[in-house]
Amino acid sequence: MKVAVVGGTGDLGFGLVLRLAKAGVAVAIGSRSAERAAQAVSRVSHVLGAAEVSGSVNRESVKGCNAAFFTIPFEAIAEIAGDVAPALAEDCIAVSCIVSPSDSGTSSAELLASHLPKPAKVVAALHTVSASLMQDLDSPVEADTFIFGDNPEDKKTIAKLLRLVEGLRPVDGGGLRDSRFGETFTRFLIGINKRYGLSHAGFRVTGLRDEDVWRRWGF
Ligand SMILES: NC(=O)c1ccc[n+]([C@@H]2O[C@H](COP(=O)([O-])OP(=O)(O)OC[C@H]3O[C@@H](n4cnc5c(N)ncnc54)[C@H](OP(=O)(O)O)[C@@H]3O)[C@@H](O)[C@H]2O)c1
Repeated sequence: MKVAVVGGTGDLGFGLVLRLAKAGVAVAIGSRSAERAAQAVSRVSHVLGAAEVSGSVNRESVKGCNAAFFTIPFEAIAEIAGDVAPALAEDCIAVSCIVSPSDSGTSSAELLASHLPKPAKVVAALHTVSASLMQDLDSPVEADTFIFGDNPEDKKTIAKLLRLVEGLRPVDGGGLRDSRFGETFTRFLIGINKRYGLSHAGFRVTGLRDEDVWRRWGF
């Protein structure tokens, strides 16, 4: 499995790159600048030593990938999706981690899908997982992430990938339209972080046993 992280130079994206590379996944870091991508690759080597990580401009990074995570600001969706769309393989799953600054009714994931070639294979995840936790490789993440999407097989593929992140439990959050809840939860968590002076508040669904989570995905 080869994974691209479009915006992998940023806070969340870089944390995801570290976690996946640590688990042995081949990761391509995408950036608007080849130089910033190369610097991010050096940072990965500094932290992990040898790892299967490359860096390039966003459009190059997604070539030949089975999954492309989009860890970019909401405002950049049209520009970046338009740039990478011609290079995305038909069977590549686009994973939106993007959070809109306010509730517009349409999720960032649906907006991303509207900018990709049809039929777009889009899943949404990681909205409620803090970048600082992802980058702290000394600690397991110990949180749930909700996976949203309309194609069960695509969701399962992304759940299987994200369970490689130590302590992260991928919970089926419903269809792509429901990813707006994930984005609302992020804005809610930002408020919790501010009130309690934290940087890493997250979600854990109580009453949901690990074995039920894994059984639903068929793992
Ligand atoms: N930070 C978190 O804890 C967290 C948690 C959950 C979800 N999210 C969501 O994940 C996304 C990324 O968050 P982040 O904190 O990692 O963001 P970030 O560090 O500000 O940005 C991520 C990357 O996006 C690219 N970028 C920045 N501004 C851009 C622009 N105007 N146009 C095009 N590309 C731009 C940059 O890469 P290059 O300059 O290298 O191109 C940057 O490194 C956001 O939608 C955020 O809401 C974040």
